[in-house]
Amino acid sequence: MEHSISHYATSRHTAKAYDSSRKISDADMEHIRTLLRNAASSVNLQPWHFLIASTPDGKERVAKGTDEKYPFNSKAIRDCSHAVVFACRSEISDEYIQKVLNKEVADKRLVAEEAKQRQLASRTMFTNIHREAGDVKEWAALQTYLNLGALLLGAATLGIDATPMEGVDTEALNREFCLSEQGLSALVVVTLGYSDEENDYNAKLPKSRLDWTEIATEI
Ligand SMILES: Cc1cc2nc3c(=O)[nH]c(=O)nc-3n(C[C@H](O)[C@H](O)[C@H](O)COP(=O)(O)O)c2cc1C
Repeated sequence: MEHSISHYATSRHTAKAYDSSRKISDADMEHIRTLLRNAASSVNLQPWHFLIASTPDGKERVAKGTDEKYPFNSKAIRDCSHAVVFACRSEISDEYIQKVLNKEVADKRLVAEEAKQRQLASRTMFTNIHREAGDVKEWAALQTYLNLGALLLGAATLGIDATPMEGVDTEALNREFCLSEQGLSALVVVTLGYSDEENDYNAKLPKSRLDWTEIATEI
């Protein structure tokens, strides 16, 4: 049965317990990869990297980010089907800007030389604003959080439950996966899988959100 987007927005929830026997199919994981790859970002910089753990060993490594400081999140990491570590770029180099441009040319998004130069100038201008403000990493993190939002809603449309986790020691994840050496910073983890209906207390609770008029002004 087809559902409206409002159905998914209001019926998705943060899973608090997973059925460890259920794995996401390869076909659905392809949809998840498509979501992660196609999220929007400022000047199409795509300043992110994802570590996707599906093996017990991989998930153990991700749980190193929670076991000590945020143990309440550890069980979900071990029981879920896939745990995704979201990392953002700590710096945006001129080489990286060129790499994105070269891909746009290869994908035939940019054909005319003039369009190529215009895109390069605009991307460099926005990046320079953040280089000068000293907040390139924060800017990259904002873009990466957009991707997180798209994933949460997208997963719900696939019937996949998810848990976004800021309760992770990002420094521990940086160490475990040698992220700093690669110019990356861990930000947040999202576990994906299927809720353990008996133990997932959040699945049974009604949603609670501030009233529309509290959070928006229609002009
Ligand atoms: C960025 C972010 C970080 C979060 N961190 C955690 C976390 O570490 N552990 C957890 O169980 N839930 C975490 N949550 C879930 C929120 O508590 C949850 O989204 C919120 O209470 C709304 O509930 P809902 O997702 O079920 O609609 C996080 C959510 C977001 C968006």
